[in-house]
Amino acid sequence: MHHIDIPSTADKEQKFKALLPQIESLVSGEPDLIANLSNIAAVLKEGCGYFWVGFYLIRGDELVLGPFQGPVACTRIARGKGVCGDCWEQGKVIVVPDVEKYPGHIACNAASKSEIVLPVVKNGEVIMIFDVDSEVLDDFDQVDQWFLREVVEIVSKL
Ligand code: SME
Repeated sequence: MHHIDIPSTADKEQKFKALLPQIESLVSGEPDLIANLSNIAAVLKEGCGYFWVGFYLIRGDELVLGPFQGPVACTRIARGKGVCGDCWEQGKVIVVPDVEKYPGHIACNAASKSEIVLPVVKNGEVIMIFDVDSEVLDDFDQVDQWFLREVVEIVSKL
């Protein structure tokens, strides 16, 4: 039974620094990818207050919804479509401060206002997409970006 200690401190950086080793330990020793992605999504949803946290897995020429926490989301996204499809195509992190201003943004839920999408890269290849949404405009600052890149590092080693 795993217990996650989410510090009640208002300092986001401190909280994220405390969460990272717990995420590492949560997935260590468990070989099942879906189980690990599911628990990582749960920690981030509960611990960081994000609106939606989830993984899109690559299935042929589409992204297919994987483990997530939050409201119901789009199940399939084509390469080069939406922020997730662009991220897959470009292989780089995309920060969207205002989703309404992103051409081609796919709205899975009207409450989502800003978003960050990160590619998970293994052996030089994008193997899945990690998407985090917020109900607040421009919600992903440098600290969130650093933290989520660290999470992606952990995921890339699963
Ligand atoms: N907004 C994303 C779609 C996924 S949901 O936000 C969960 C996009 O434009 O690709």
